[in-house]
Amino acid sequence: KSIVVLISGSGSNLQAILDACSAGFIDGKVTAVLSNKAKAFGLERAKKAGAKAIVLDHKAYVDRAAYDQDLIATIDQYQPDLVVLAGFMRILTPEFVQHYQGRLLNIHPSLLPKYQGLNTHQRAIDAGDSEHGCSVHFVTAELDGGPVILQAKVPVFPGDDANAVAERVHEQEHRIYPLVVRWFCQNRLQQQSDKALLDGLLL
Ligand code: GRF
Repeated sequence: KSIVVLISGSGSNLQAILDACSAGFIDGKVTAVLSNKAKAFGLERAKKAGAKAIVLDHKAYVDRAAYDQDLIATIDQYQPDLVVLAGFMRILTPEFVQHYQGRLLNIHPSLLPKYQGLNTHQRAIDAGDSEHGCSVHFVTAELDGGPVILQAKVPVFPGDDANAVAERVHEQEHRIYPLVVRWFCQNRLQQQSDKALLDGLLL
């Protein structure tokens, strides 16, 4: 299976997926990594693993539609079975989402449907939550709103700051994202509009 990963930053989730591929845990190959930021450290991770590392700077485009069109054209050169968003900090057009419907995954650092959008760790602390976590979901036109496939929970302890919680959540992200990609590459995962199925069973 050909996997294309989109990033904007450090790419620690990308690394977890690269490692899972080289270990044979995922029956697939990261063929290309695309970043909208030239300085994203994940690009180095991609090169080191032998994947194509590509920068598509959004500032060079007149609007979001033009950017996403070029993004699609670039991604499709790698004939992806799966497109993985791993810290790609851009909102995607409905055209983009539609184009990859059913083969587009995202990881979000909250227990969805709680805390869609940004600053999730601080918001969980501010709300006094004792539990927080992360979610892998299929992407739909609704931001952070697609059907959830797998979540991991972490405790929030009194006195925790956002960094402490983020670190705890990140560890879990690196466990659940490769697992979901593995399932997808085994043809066990499907999206039916607003529902996700594993082995034909509703999640
Ligand atoms: C993760 O926290 C992910 O949940 C969010 O962006 C962050 C990416 O981290 N969508 P990294 O670049 O994979 O280290």
